[in-house]
Amino acid sequence: MSKINVAVFASGTGSNFEAIMEAGDLSCNIVLLICDNPGATVIQKAEKYQVPTFVFRSKDYVSKEEYEKVLVEKLKEANISWVFLAGYMRIIGPTLLEAYEGKIINIHPSLLPDFPGKDAIGQAYHARVKTTGVTVHYVDAGIDTGPIIAQEEIEVKENDTLESLEEKIHHVEHQLYPRVMKDIVKK
Ligand code: GRF
Repeated sequence: MSKINVAVFASGTGSNFEAIMEAGDLSCNIVLLICDNPGATVIQKAEKYQVPTFVFRSKDYVSKEEYEKVLVEKLKEANISWVFLAGYMRIIGPTLLEAYEGKIINIHPSLLPDFPGKDAIGQAYHARVKTTGVTVHYVDAGIDTGPIIAQEEIEVKENDTLESLEEKIHHVEHQLYPRVMKDIVKK
């Protein structure tokens, strides 16, 4: 059976993208990176793994609908079945949500529904919670609100700094996201 194609969307560093590329056989082919930030280091990572990349700037389009129409075209051209957001800093609009209904997944660095939105690690750290974690979920029209697929808890220790907590969270993300990807693409 031939493997299905998936795309990753990212805006920044791309450590999750790299973890996915390094994870070995995920029962799918990562054939496209979509990036909305021409300065993002994830672009060099995609070059390293020879993953074709489409880079765009939202300000070059009149609306979210306009750029998302282009993204849907790119996804269809590449025969993409699933989309994995990995630090993509834009809210997914109706154009993409309708074209890939139930097929867009996100990873978020907190135990949702706690601490949605930006700087979730900092939010949890400053709230002095004893436990935080990582969530993988389906994307819906809200911000980090879709049905949860998998969660992993992380203890916040007395001596944790924001940096040490970030490190622990990213470490868990890098294990969890490839695992969920492998499971979900079989559905
Ligand atoms: C990760 O913490 C992810 O959970 C969040 O954005 C961050 C992306 O990091 N959505 P990276 O670009 O994969 O290093």
